[in-house]
Amino acid sequence: MVRVITYGTFDLFHEGHYRLLQRAKALGDYLIVGVTTENYDKARGKLGVVDSVITRIENVKKTGFADEVIIEESAGQKFNDIKKYRIDIFTVGSDWTGYFDYLKDCCKVVYLERTRNISSTMLREQRQHIMRIGIIGNGRIANRFVPEARLVSGITVQGVYNPHPHSAKRFAEKWEIDGYEDVELFYDAVDAVYIASPHKTHYEYINGALEHGKHVLCEKPMVLQRRQAKEVFALAKKRELVLFEGIKTAYCPGFQKLLGIAYSGVIGSIRNVEACFTKLEQENSRELTDPVYGGSFIELGSYVMLPILKLMGADYEKVSFDTINGEKGVDLFTRVTLKYRNGLATATCGLGVKSEGRLLIAGTKGYILAEAPWWKTSYFEVHYEDTSRVDKFSEVFLGEGLRYEISDFLTRLNHGEKDDFKLTRGETVALAGIMEEFMKASRE
Ligand code: CTP
Repeated sequence: MVRVITYGTFDLFHEGHYRLLQRAKALGDYLIVGVTTENYDKARGKLGVVDSVITRIENVKKTGFADEVIIEESAGQKFNDIKKYRIDIFTVGSDWTGYFDYLKDCCKVVYLERTRNISSTMLREQRQHIMRIGIIGNGRIANRFVPEARLVSGITVQGVYNPHPHSAKRFAEKWEIDGYEDVELFYDAVDAVYIASPHKTHYEYINGALEHGKHVLCEKPMVLQRRQAKEVFALAKKRELVLFEGIKTAYCPGFQKLLGIAYSGVIGSIRNVEACFTKLEQENSRELTDPVYGGSFIELGSYVMLPILKLMGADYEKVSFDTINGEKGVDLFTRVTLKYRNGLATATCGLGVKSEGRLLIAGTKGYILAEAPWWKTSYFEVHYEDTSRVDKFSEVFLGEGLRYEISDFLTRLNHGEKDDFKLTRGETVALAGIMEEFMKASRE
């Protein structure tokens, strides 16, 4: 019996897929089809896949060509599958010609001619209206946003608005997009906005954008008061618009994996989370000179609070802040301590003090350790009482990592609510509440 294997995403199942499977089956007697998981696709940079893995498997099965369907979840799996399933022929479409020649040592490799003029990417683009996003504010982060957004299919960066026209013009020229000094013209030209302006302006811009019927992706911290967060979410709901806080860590595949392991119970019940992130800034930087909106906690607090809120929740019994202020009265280093009914948490961040940035999650059976830069999660370990046992996990984190949140934002725009678990509205409201308490405490 000749055993054949092939792999693919098989998103929005089309004729090209059907013909490939038909010919793959004809190469032998028994066909195994590997279908990629959502996480594996994200990790290898294939963003914007529409169908769930279940739907994609069902579509492959419906053809009647597959004798067996398996899941493909990591790079390097193919080699092992070929051994495990005693495969005689490995086959894929001709778009991969040469790429899998390394498998020739263990089986025959056949590249089947790809069907012309059809692909999942093409179908995704036809289905989707290309979302035009406009940027408000054009600082450092906006410069990272544009190239990342260009990697996500279904979205185009239309233009930039800044009340300082020279600045918008320079940015627009650099990225070859439109620059706007008239906010009404800007709103007319876009479907959604990315707010990357100074923190103090977020609330006003979110309201403005929602009032103009635009979806909003807003940089962290979205707003600095609990009431404001609730208000803007209520307005978004009323207007049937998507409002999304952009904390890149929340959407990246490595952090998702880490949370999955933490929730799985392997380290028992979680009793302590410690998160630290420090980044030295120039003394004359905005972050260290703005007396109201500068400082380490407003700048970095969203990152360090994220794992705490995800794992311990927002029902803390007590929160306290300890800070070291610089000469300008701005916090150079802040430690937040939270007490929960069943646990403790500390969030530490600094712009003027350097420390070891790590994330430690302690449970009743073991602990998870992620070293800096854990906020771009690509590696973590699980340790136990038995020190000889250490489980190691890694995941890809591509580029600046903004592509993941942009892709999830787009999925929400196109397909509604389903991705809300990565950063819930409740968590964004809680974050705004903590920012508010911090600002109150630092004024006392
Ligand atoms: N395939 C094919 N002819 C096409 C499209 C795909 O023969 N027109 C083959 C691919 O070469 C691969 C398998 O079908 O062996 C699964 O491909 P997949 O990547 O899932 O499909 P694409 O349409 O190429 O997807 P995308 O546009 O997302 O890359």
